[in-house]
Amino acid sequence: MQIDIITIFPEYFGPLSVSLIGKAAERGDISFAVHDLRDWTYDVHHTVDDSPFGGGPGMVMKPEPWGEALDTVAPAGADPLLVIPTPAGLPFSQQHAARYASEPWLIFACGRYEGIDGRVIDEARSRMRVEEVSIGDYVLAGGEPAVLVMTEAICRLLPGVLGNAESAADDSFGFGISPADAGSAGVSSPGGPMAGLIEGPAYTRPRVWRERQVPPVLLSGDHGAIARWRRDSALRRTAQNRPDLVARLVSADRARAQSQLTQAGQLDKHDRAVLAEAGFPVTEEDVAH
Ligand code: 6GU
Repeated sequence: MQIDIITIFPEYFGPLSVSLIGKAAERGDISFAVHDLRDWTYDVHHTVDDSPFGGGPGMVMKPEPWGEALDTVAPAGADPLLVIPTPAGLPFSQQHAARYASEPWLIFACGRYEGIDGRVIDEARSRMRVEEVSIGDYVLAGGEPAVLVMTEAICRLLPGVLGNAESAADDSFGFGISPADAGSAGVSSPGGPMAGLIEGPAYTRPRVWRERQVPPVLLSGDHGAIARWRRDSALRRTAQNRPDLVARLVSADRARAQSQLTQAGQLDKHDRAVLAEAGFPVTEEDVAH
């Protein structure tokens, strides 16, 4: 996979040579190219911003350097996916990460200040695929940290990057299964065992630490019971911390009950009982079916 990053702070991307991503880059599984936007400025001050038309605070990134940068990095006829981090974008999710991981070529365009002149995105859309994404409901000073976050989420899903191929499918949100696998399995919405849930706690040696025991089922060797316990703790933690996610699962579950469809990530009877016990408003009918 090729990843190009256009930024006024190339030094921000030093962390890409660290850890799993750094190793993947060393192996050649991922190839990063970080471009300094100021290479496409021609005045002595290498100006990339100007005051906004219509007035108001802050500065807007000028269109000319961005236009030339994109022409150079993605020449005519090329087919990259251009990703623009902005707090005004669609929420970046594990599904985005999985979809981006299946792309051979991503370009990230990091805006600063009040954003990039709006015509740059309109013009780019006329010749390539463009997505504006946000990593959460807060405002960063620039897209750079968001690109570090997204590249980590994407790159750990690439084949060979994560030590254990199954660990992505077992992740919170559970959309780590590769889109290719999801496609060949004929699953419309990919999902591992944790689809739509956040994971419960994990434990390692020693068995007793500061008088605290590891949950005994994890030492039982009963893989069915362990999987059930893990799913129960994921359901409880999701009900506690992310009622929005449980609401989504329960409503998908009701829709499925009506249409008789089966799909990855669905709730079973035991799941519904655990949610009801966790105080989540599932109906009597939900628990029964
Ligand atoms: Cl992607 N960029 C900026 N500048 N701020 C953000 C963001 C992105 N996501 C949340 N806040």
